[in-house]
Parts: sequence; structure tokens; C-alpha cells
Amino acid sequence: MFEIKERDGAARIGVFTTPHGKVETPNLMPVVNPNIDLISPKRLEKEFGTQMLITNSYIIYRTDELRERALKEGLHSLLDFKGAVMTDSGTFQSHVYGEVDIEPLEILSFQKNIGSDVCTILDRFTEPDDPRELVEQKVNDTISRAQEASKEHHEGHTALPIQGSVFYDLREYCGRELSRLDGTFYPIGGVVPLLESYRFHELTKVILHSKKGLGPRGPVHLFGAGHPLIYPIAVLLGCDLFDSSSYAKYARRGDLMYPWGTRHIDDVDYLGCECPVCSKITPSELRELPENKRVLKIAEHNLWISYREMDRVKQAIHEDTLWEMVENRSGVHPSLIDALKSVYDGFEILEPYEPKGRKRAFFYTNPWSLNRPAVKRLTDYVQDGYKPPFENAPYILFDSSNISKPYSRYLTNELRALLPYHRVNLLIETPLGVMPLEFDETYPLAQSLFPDNRPDISLSYPEDIIRWEGMNTLESLTKKEGMTLDEMRVRSISDYQFCKGAGDIFSNGELSFIKNRKGRTKNVLLDNKHILSVRSYDGLFTLKR
Ligand code: GUN
Ligand code: ZN
Repeated sequence: MFEIKERDGAARIGVFTTPHGKVETPNLMPVVNPNIDLISPKRLEKEFGTQMLITNSYIIYRTDELRERALKEGLHSLLDFKGAVMTDSGTFQSHVYGEVDIEPLEILSFQKNIGSDVCTILDRFTEPDDPRELVEQKVNDTISRAQEASKEHHEGHTALPIQGSVFYDLREYCGRELSRLDGTFYPIGGVVPLLESYRFHELTKVILHSKKGLGPRGPVHLFGAGHPLIYPIAVLLGCDLFDSSSYAKYARRGDLMYPWGTRHIDDVDYLGCECPVCSKITPSELRELPENKRVLKIAEHNLWISYREMDRVKQAIHEDTLWEMVENRSGVHPSLIDALKSVYDGFEILEPYEPKGRKRAFFYTNPWSLNRPAVKRLTDYVQDGYKPPFENAPYILFDSSNISKPYSRYLTNELRALLPYHRVNLLIETPLGVMPLEFDETYPLAQSLFPDNRPDISLSYPEDIIRWEGMNTLESLTKKEGMTLDEMRVRSISDYQFCKGAGDIFSNGELSFIKNRKGRTKNVLLDNKHILSVRSYDGLFTLKR
């Protein structure tokens, strides 16, 4: 069972229940190689808080002694680990060494027999350079193996990996077909080569399209993603689980992982890390350790760094700041900037996950922040969907450069002179672009923070605009009964928030407004009946029944 507790866009904090305890996601499953004694599972559990680890059933199966022990005493006893254990199937070995010599159902039954909590089918690894026909074949084989597994393996607990290389339509297709089956995990497979060569923009699209096909199902596991560099962006796109043998692999070659990249121990003069290892040792002491001790220390550091970065990602989901975190982190490697661009381009896939309002203000981190779904949805709407309060009426354009937010509060005199006596639509130049003034108390326009110095954005205006140049602007306008800003707001925000035309129902009666002490509208009444309340934190409506 996978229960979602909190969300931030497509990212989520969830709890997944296994026969060996609960696992909170997003989370990291360290890879344990039963043949190599590095950080023991017991230490992982006690010192690092590991709730779930992953090991390779194919290695166990191929090693007589391990196989016999696993079958006799069970996987958890073999590993000496009480938490949840996922097993992989040998697919990765096929990527490294060519085809593996085992039947798909045989390795699946073996995983079940040794008591794995999540057993992975023998999917077919799709390589980035595979030609399309081969990828189609591998995707279809993976789907039929998943279907067979579902038939033979009724009680579930299977991981059904999505393959498809960098053919995004095949990723969608594979995700969609697998979503019909009762998987426990839905890993995104075949991404290790993309990760290794920093092809993060393709990785981003692979995740986006796999998720699109899969829909809301989960947990989604990014197979073989072990570098903390990738966690924020992958979690933002909806990945819940990561597995890592990198902490050990990197350690063996002397590489320290950081959220901002990798540094070789020979190049490090200052460790710059607060983990229990680095707080007690200098880089030269670390270099001088005997090799096995040095590898162990660096592996421990790498795991600490990975877990702590995952904590930061979770906290960002909790406080609604994951977009800001991803944008900030993208500066550490140009490939992450390319990846971020692909994330913004994935607007159509991400938009359904994006709440209209958020509790936390929108923080601008760089000029691209304006491509975030929260802003793009509003700016696209204003460009293409917005229906102004008055058709065939002029637009009055205000400048916001010398006033604060909400803007209308600083324009009371102007609005008092203008609105009751003129039929006009209102616009204001804002850091998000030219916006209808009715949106000035609504997320993200009201709840946002921008630096004063930032690159100009190109602003587009309707044809018949009149710039507000002070009270004498009134002289150029014809007089006719207008509308209050409150009335305009109810129409425009309802259209935006509920559906086009929703605002029209307010033309069929008498509107009145109840304000709070600060003069902000609290409730909207139609013919004296309370029908809408205004949410204080994002200025959107809640329906009153
Ligand atoms: N480990 C890394 N990538 C993969 C993958 O695509 N499939 C499986 N089963 N294991 C993996
Ligand atoms: Zn450290």
C-alpha cells in the first residue's frame, strides 16, 4: 500500500508498507552486494536509518553457497537486515555483460522463495543507442513478461520497470501498459547510461513521458540513480525511490559525492562536509589511510551526503519550495540547466499536478523561474483564455514600478475616480508580465517575491490600451456606468479557477461583499446568499454550499 501524505507538484511524500516495515518516500535504497563486505546491512539500519535496501537476486542465484543459504534461511537472515528488501533480477547484468542465462519466471520465483519484499521481473534493458525496432521489441518483451508475472505471481509485490530508451512515445506506451497491471513498484529502467554521461535533459524527458503513461501510480523508482545531484529534479518529476551502488563504486575510485557534484580525494583540500566522517578527519589523513579503510570512509561519507540531500528534498516538499530548490541546484552543472529547460518544456505533463494556489509565496530565483507551471498557467491564460469584464471597452494600463502589492490597494484614489463612471478593463505591468488588475490578490501575483534588478521580460499589450498618466487620463474616456473591482474579481477569478464562463453566473443577481478588518474581501454574496469565500493565503475562492 502506498499512501501519499504531502505533495508539491508531481513530487510527493508517501509511506509504503511492506511485510518488513514502512518505508517513507522519497527514499534511497542502498545497493548491497552479498559478495562484498563494505557497510553491513546492520550498520545501514542502525547508523544510516536505512528503511529499505536493494540486492541482486541473480548474484545470489548464481553463487551456490548464497543460493542455498537464501533458500534455507531467507533473504533477510542472509543479509542480517530487518527492514524491507527489494531484489533485482539480472537485467542490469545483461546491460553490463550481454544477455543473462536465466528464465524470466524462474528468477522471479526465486526472489519470491527467498522472501524478497519487492521482486523485479526480468525486464529487457533498453540502451540509448538501440535502434527503434530493437527498443520496440524489448518494450514488448518487457510488457509480456510483466503480464506473465502478474498471472503467475498473483499476490503482487512485483516491480515492473518501464523501458523505452529515448523514444518518448515508447516510454509512454510502456508506462500505460504496465499501469494496467498490479505492480508494487514502477521503476524507470534503462537510464544508467544517461546518468553516467550526464545526459540529464534526456533523462528528464524519459521520466516525464514514463510518468505520463503511468499516471498517478507509484511508487516510481529511478533505477540505478545514485548521485544526489539528481534527486531534487527527479523527485520534482515524481520519482519516489532511488537505489545506489554509486556510494560504493565512487568510493572505490576515491570520489566524494556532494549535492553539487563529485570531487576526487586527491583534489580536495577542504572537505566542506558536516557528516560524521568528515567532521573527524582531514583530507590528508583520509588520503593516508590504508585503501580498504579509505574506501569505507568515503563510502560512508557518500551515503551520509545522499541521505541528507534526500532530507532536504523532503523538507522542500513539506514547505512547498521544491521548484526553488531545483532551480537553485541547477546552477551546479550545465547539464542540469538543460534538464531544467526540459522540465519547463514538460508543462503540459506537469500542469495537472500543479495546484492553482500554494501556501508559500513564489520566490524568483532566476529569469527562468517565470516558466514554472504556477506562472505559465496564469500567463498562458491571460494571453489566450482571459475574457475581460467589458467587451469592446478600452484597457487602462497601470505601472506597478513605484507601488507595492496588492497593487489595487495603492491605486484606491485612481480606481475611485475611474471605476464607477467608466466602462474600462484594467491592466497592470508586473514582474510576471501584463496582468489584469483583478488578479492582484491571487497566487502567484500577490504571493511572490522578485528582486528589483532582473532582466526585462517582453511584455505584450492588447491593441486598445490607454496608459494611466494621472487623473487627466479620465478626460479621454466616455462616461458610462462601470463595475467595482470586487465585481470584476469575482467574474475573472471564477473563470480562471473553475472554468470559462463560470463568472457569468454573477451577472444574474445582486453581488455584495463582506470584508475583513483590513478591507480584504472575505465572503461573496449573490442576492444576499453566501456563495464564495476567499482563501486568505492565495486569494482563490472556496465554494460555500
Ligand atoms: N538496474 C539499473 N537499471 C536497471 C533496469 O533498467 N532494470 C533492472 N531490472 N535493473 C536495473
Ligand atoms: Zn562527509
